[in-house]
Amino acid sequence: MSFLIFSCSNDSASDLTDNNEDNNESIPDLVTFNQNILPIIQNSCTPCHGPNGSQPDYTNFRNASDNATDISDRVNRTPGSPGFMPEGQLVRLSQRNLDLIAKWITDGKVEQP
Ligand code: HEC
Repeated sequence: MSFLIFSCSNDSASDLTDNNEDNNESIPDLVTFNQNILPIIQNSCTPCHGPNGSQPDYTNFRNASDNATDISDRVNRTPGSPGFMPEGQLVRLSQRNLDLIAKWITDGKVEQP
């Protein structure tokens, strides 16, 4: 049974990840909020997490940076499981965007440029 399920897909992890974006684009040496993270928030987390949203505003650098670990946790959960973000989506952010968020944290959560 499980053989049949696995034989339908050669990479089940990629089925849970948004492939619309160019995952082959390189990751910058230094990931910054303004250059790399804010665009992800604006594309995938607003309006809910924008200035006029009902949830914490992560377009605000300080809010995003103070909650970076929580953000990273939520976007890496299994789609459909409790607390998965972006809420309502069936797939995760692109692998590149997940990698950017992870590296932003290890790079020290820099804001500029
Ligand atoms: C359609 C609206 C919507 C979108 C889009 C959305 N969220 Fe959320 N988010 C919510 C709601 C509603 C909650 C509160 C329920 C919960 O905690 O699961 C929440 C809660 C959260 C929390 C916990 C906040 C806290 O203070 O406990 C984090 C972190 C989070 N979202 C991150 C994100 C990120 C990152 C994105 C984009 C990748 C995103 N969300 C997209 C609606 C949304």
